[in-house]
Amino acid sequence: MVIDSLQMAAVHEIVGILDETGPLGEVLGVPVLGSDNLLSEMRSNHGVIGFVPAVGDNILRRRLFDAAVSAGLEPVNAIHPTAVISRYATLGRGVALMAGVVLNADCQIGDNVIVNTGATVDHDVRVESDVHIAPGCHISGYVSIGRGTLIGTGSSVKDRVHIGERATIGAGAAVYRDVPNYATVVGSQMRAVEHPES
Ligand SMILES: CC(C)(COP(=O)(O)OP(=O)(O)OC[C@H]1O[C@@H](n2cnc3c(N)ncnc32)[C@H](O)[C@@H]1OP(=O)(O)O)[C@@H](O)C(=O)NCCC(=O)NCCS
Repeated sequence: MVIDSLQMAAVHEIVGILDETGPLGEVLGVPVLGSDNLLSEMRSNHGVIGFVPAVGDNILRRRLFDAAVSAGLEPVNAIHPTAVISRYATLGRGVALMAGVVLNADCQIGDNVIVNTGATVDHDVRVESDVHIAPGCHISGYVSIGRGTLIGTGSSVKDRVHIGERATIGAGAAVYRDVPNYATVVGSQMRAVEHPES
């Protein structure tokens, strides 16, 4: 998906992929050059300037991000051309915005964040570094999301909720109150409540 976004945006030339586990070969026409051991020589021997950390796992992505920066490479953003980004949104470095993402006014996206397919991040949301917002999530206004947290596929977060660091929100959750650091929460409780207008 990162390759697809970079190819469609046509801002950067893609030299290759470093993959610790996969065989040599190619992905979507881009050669797999070898393992992460090659990081240190990418700039000097191959003239590579930038990188995009292209794994979903937040802890591993941070490790790769730090290793690539230590090797003298610049984090590049991979932004699919169908992403709609408010001119008042701010983006960190090494950010991946997949197809159909919407970032609304005054939201702040930290370094090394993935906002995945079709997710929306509304006004005044603060997303710290290393967060992954999975496909189809909706993050309402004034929400804050701490460093390294995963918001699972299709989750919705009510406005002004604070989600802590390294938390995991299970796929399909409805998050309507604050979530502490390191917590894993699942589910969507629909129950009748007293409401002044009912
Ligand atoms: C919440 C989650 C982290 C739990 O994973 P896990 O620790 O491996 O837990 P398990 O699959 O063993 O499930 C534990 C319990 O939680 C329930 N559960 C798991 N995921 C759930 C979810 N998303 N919603 C509701 N219940 C869930 C299971 O049914 C099980 O219940 P039980 O103990 O009553 O049988 C995981 O299921 C999840 O939703 N991850 C998000 C994945 C995602 O969106 N990735 C994005 C890819 S781009």
